[in-house]
Amino acid sequence: MLDVLSLDELEPMARARLPRMAFDYIAGGAEDEWTLQENRAAFQRLQLIPRVLIDVTERDLATTVLGARISLPVLVAPMAFHSLTHTDGELATARAAAAAGTIMIASTASNYSMEEIAASCTASRWFQLYIYRDRELTRSLVERAATAGYEALCVTVDAPLIGRRPRDARNQFSLPAGITMGNFKEAARADLPETERESGLAAYVASQWDAGVTWKDVEWLRSISGLPVVLKGILSTEDARLAVEHGAAGIVVSNHGGRQLDTAPASITVLPHIVEAVQGRIEILLDGGIRRGTDVLKALALGARACLLGRPVLWGLALEGEEGARAVLDILRVELDSAMALAGCRRIEEVTSALILKT
Ligand code: FNR
Repeated sequence: MLDVLSLDELEPMARARLPRMAFDYIAGGAEDEWTLQENRAAFQRLQLIPRVLIDVTERDLATTVLGARISLPVLVAPMAFHSLTHTDGELATARAAAAAGTIMIASTASNYSMEEIAASCTASRWFQLYIYRDRELTRSLVERAATAGYEALCVTVDAPLIGRRPRDARNQFSLPAGITMGNFKEAARADLPETERESGLAAYVASQWDAGVTWKDVEWLRSISGLPVVLKGILSTEDARLAVEHGAAGIVVSNHGGRQLDTAPASITVLPHIVEAVQGRIEILLDGGIRRGTDVLKALALGARACLLGRPVLWGLALEGEEGARAVLDILRVELDSAMALAGCRRIEEVTSALILKT
C-alpha cells in the first residue's frame, strides 16, 4: 500500500527509486523550469471561500466529458514511456484509471501499443496524437485508434518541436535497452537515436514530428477519424476561438506541464480568459500542477469541465505499479470530496466561480 497522505510526498520517494535519467525526464521542465514552478504557485495564490449550513451529507463527484461519464473530474494525462517507471507500463496505468472510474489518455509515445493498452481494460479511453511528417503513418495511427475503441483524439498542438529541457540534454536521455515505442515497428520510429550532448527524444522529435502542422490539419484529422478532436496545449484566447471555429470538440488548457515554452503562464492563470472566449461552445479541460483536491476544485470553479493529472500518476506507478497509480487517483478523490463538502457543494454542477476569493 502506498503510505502517503498527499501527492507531494511521492516525488522524493520516486526519486529514490528511479534511475536518474528516468526521474529527471519525468520531473523536469523546459529551460529555467519557471513555468513548471508557476503551475504550482498559481494554484497556491488562489483562495477558496468555504460555505456553511448547507446539507452536504450526500455528495457525488461524477461528471461527464464529451458525454462519457467519469466518477471524478480527473483524467490521466497523456504521458510518454510509462515503462520507465514499471514493467507493466501503460497497461497498469490503464487498469488503474479504469478501476478509478476515469479515462486514460494514451500517448502516441507509449511503450505498449495502443491495441495492447485497449485490451488491458474496458474503460473509456482517448488517444493522444503527435502528427508525424509521414502523413500516411499519422493516418494509420488515427485509424488504429478508432478501430481499437478510443473514443476521442487528443491532438497535442503545443509541440511543433520539443521544448529545451536541460536535464534531458545533460543526461543524453534515451530509452533503456528493451524498451521501445510500442505503436511503431521500424527501429527508426520505435527507438530514440543515440545522441551526444543532446536528448535522444529531442533528436527523434526533430526528425519525425511535423513542425508544419496548421489549423487545416485539425479538419483533416476530424474527417479521417470520425472521432471528436480535443486540442491539447491551448493558452491563448485567440487560439481557443480558432479551436471552436475549426470544429474541435474540446480543448485542454495546458503548458505541457512546463515542458515546452518556458515563462508561459500557468494554465490556471489563463483559464478564466479562455472560458470567456469560448462562451460554453466546447468543453474546456485543464492540466499542469494539479496536486490537491483543492486544485481540482479551483479549476472547476474557474470553468474547467475536468482536469488532467500528469506526473503524480507516474510516481505512483514507480512506487507500487497499478495499485500505486490507483492510490494516487483515490487520494485526489478523497481530497476533492472533502473540499467540496467544506465549500458547500454536493455535486460538480454546484461548483461556481463564487468559491474563489476575488482579489
Ligand atoms: C508529458 N506530457 C505529454 N503530453 C502529451 O500530449 N503527450 C505526451 O506524450 C506527453 N508526455 C509526457 C511525459 C511526461 C513524463 C510528462 C511529465 C508529461 C504532458 C502531460 O500530458 C501534461 O500536460 C502535464 O504532465 C500536466 O502537468 P502535471 O500534472 O505533470 O503537472
